[in-house]
Amino acid sequence: MRDRFADMSPATSLAGGVYGPTSLRPLIDEVLLALTSGAADRNGPLPGASHGGVTAAIRAACGQEFLPDHGVGAPAALRELTRAFAAGAADPADPRCAAHLHCPPLAVAVAADLAAAALNPSMDSWDQAPAGTALEPEIIAVLSDLVGYRSGAGGVITSGGTESNLMGLLLARDHAVRSERGADAARTGLAAVDAGRLRVLGSAAAHFSIARGAGLLGIGEDAVVAVPTDADHRMDVAALHRELAAQRAVGERPVAIVATAGTTDVGAVDPLPDIADAAAEYGAWLHVDAAYGGGALFSRRLAALLAGISRADSVALDLHKLGWQPVPAGVFLARDAALFAPLQRSVAYLNADDDQQSGYPSLLNRSLRTTRRPDVFKIAVTLRALGRHGLGELVESCHELACHAARRAAAQPRLELFAEPVLSTVVFRYRPASHRSDPDKVNAELRRVLLAEGRAVIGRTEAGGAVRLKLTLLNPHATTADVDGLLDAVVAAGDKEVQ
Ligand SMILES: Cc1ncc(COP(=O)(O)O)c(C=O)c1O
Repeated sequence: MRDRFADMSPATSLAGGVYGPTSLRPLIDEVLLALTSGAADRNGPLPGASHGGVTAAIRAACGQEFLPDHGVGAPAALRELTRAFAAGAADPADPRCAAHLHCPPLAVAVAADLAAAALNPSMDSWDQAPAGTALEPEIIAVLSDLVGYRSGAGGVITSGGTESNLMGLLLARDHAVRSERGADAARTGLAAVDAGRLRVLGSAAAHFSIARGAGLLGIGEDAVVAVPTDADHRMDVAALHRELAAQRAVGERPVAIVATAGTTDVGAVDPLPDIADAAAEYGAWLHVDAAYGGGALFSRRLAALLAGISRADSVALDLHKLGWQPVPAGVFLARDAALFAPLQRSVAYLNADDDQQSGYPSLLNRSLRTTRRPDVFKIAVTLRALGRHGLGELVESCHELACHAARRAAAQPRLELFAEPVLSTVVFRYRPASHRSDPDKVNAELRRVLLAEGRAVIGRTEAGGAVRLKLTLLNPHATTADVDGLLDAVVAAGDKEVQ
């Protein structure tokens, strides 16, 4: 049968169906050409323009008209906006773009994501995503296995570490309520318990999404206790025990201990086995935020850093960090699928109970979201394309780049290394020759100079009571010469700044 949409203009043609690819092909060619010309216009890791300049360029690309009365047509809109979008991007595929846990996505993952976008399955019901519903549990099983979970684990693909951490705290909170007041009490949430007694413990370097999640869940941001870190920026286990004992003495209850496997700045991995022992002793849920460090599990050499992760009740992994996926590609795992009980919903219009009994499974009870992209698809294609070995090699090459950067920073008199790299980040700062210069101001300013000139995107953070710079090395194709160039650019900008 002839598709009645087949002859439509490209602006209204559809991406799916038998004719979708035919409509898509010329449009994708436009996008690819414009990506190339936009990257050439930019000619660097980011546009050498202020925010005002980038805004003006985006407006100009549209002739100042974002919603014209009559559209300009698909090829023109794609051409104009894609070129300006690429020219105005901070491109993590450029080795000089090294500020954040913002990876350059693999071409294979982006190509796979195109298929997901074209088919547009939504993971909240089987009849919107039969293949997606079949695929996600397979990939969750593979990732659970990587973490070292036994069979029976469960999980879901999320929008990232923030959502995964929220889910870890949600399951921990409801587990605490159920164990204190029985399964029915969980429906009434915190009303069933004396919420003021609940505590969440994480290291002082835990990600801010933990405190935000505790706030959203009614546990309260103030209920989050920052356990001090040791000299290696890992949670100090003796301090954790002291805190837990003090809480017990006054009748407070540790709902969850959050261990971080790969802190955002220095990549420190908390001592997971010792923290698991403490969680078991005090009856606390153990959530491991491995949003950053989880990717190390692909490397047989670096996986040992995360030894003990299999003892966690729940785990956050982010494959849009050390996994080279386009955003979003978060993963949330729990050691036992039954722990997802708080998310259980029976909804008449999605996977009705009798449909499920007839063999149509539902993933609705795994996620906080209803409509949900099949982000599992690009992950599945990537795992199959590269295999564990291929992904492990990418992780190792980023780790080696970080080790090289640390050696160079330590050897350069104008730079001061803050911590030995664990994963793929290096924290350091420029050391002004003159004692009259304020190092915090100089480091902050030199970073802005590099940004303004479009020469390098270097991270900035605060650690050890001072402003520090950070290289987050997630580009596995970057070379040691690229890293040297970045450090040289920092020194040159710093020297110029203090003149
Ligand atoms: C350790 C850690 N946890 C959680 C997050 C939040 O992840 P997302 O940005 O994917 O929500 C980050 C982000 O950098 C992180 O570094």
